[in-house]
Amino acid sequence: MVAENRLHPDDLIAPLFVREGIDEPHPIESLPGQFQHTRESLREEVRQLADLGVPAVILFGVPAHKDAEGSEAWNPDGIVQLALRDLRDDHGDALVLVADLCVDEYTDHGHCGVLDVTGQPDNDATLGIYEEIAVAQATAGADIVAPSGMMDGQVFAIREALDEAGFDQTAILAYAAKYATALYGPFRDAVDVTIVGGGNRSGYQQDIANGREAMEEIREDIAEGADMVMIKPAMPYLDVISRARAEVDVPIAAYHVSGEYAMVHAGAERGWLDLDAVAFEHILAVKRAGADLILTYFARHLAERLQ
Ligand code: PBG
Repeated sequence: MVAENRLHPDDLIAPLFVREGIDEPHPIESLPGQFQHTRESLREEVRQLADLGVPAVILFGVPAHKDAEGSEAWNPDGIVQLALRDLRDDHGDALVLVADLCVDEYTDHGHCGVLDVTGQPDNDATLGIYEEIAVAQATAGADIVAPSGMMDGQVFAIREALDEAGFDQTAILAYAAKYATALYGPFRDAVDVTIVGGGNRSGYQQDIANGREAMEEIREDIAEGADMVMIKPAMPYLDVISRARAEVDVPIAAYHVSGEYAMVHAGAERGWLDLDAVAFEHILAVKRAGADLILTYFARHLAERLQ
């Protein structure tokens, strides 16, 4: 009766992986219970999530071929575009389709943009690519595109490109405060990414030491046209979520990332943690901190228990 917050399947967004060129879903070892899906197994998983009342999914693609620019990311027949069409056919307007907008799953070097001569992403050259991807995803049926590459000016560039292509109703969920954390490790297994040069994204992701800077990133993304902003990871950054909630009025999303999920599973496998209880506590804490939307690999697990 006195609980200030309650979790509901409506709060959750399920991150899902779809891989080109496989016949069977591949389990992701470091994310127990998660799969690289085929188009068919993705459809089935999403049907079940929708039946459980999860209102939205976010898609990540694993292409059969990677190249320097990540061109499969904007191929109209690229794996995510095909999957978006499948899900749009299956669910009409009844499910919110979010597409992660980045190239690291699609580039052979694993960075979030095209590289300059120093081997770091070239911010401005990458924006043109993000514009192409946004239009390809919106054309395929994405309701929301979620730029996750942390390039400066990405939200403005994408907003303009979408508007020019007639997609003024397509929303932008900006990964605004995305930290250069050690907690993305299992995700990189999930999308078969090895970052050339040892995996350092600190040139474009946020310094884990900084809170004020995150607020600046959030304000900038809103000024550029973001409809919603995201903080990522979630548990170590509850202070940032709570600060953002106090300062801005757009919906706030938080991403409980692969490493957070993997830790809970690893503890539970050893019998040291109660999986159900810890998963619930993590995600409820993220809501209490002020997140309206929570991206979590526990979406299905929690939704099943919240029926
Ligand atoms: C980039 C992206 C990443 C994640 C989501 N989008 C990885 C990265 O920036 O290295 C991580 C998600 C997770 O760890 O669950 N496209």
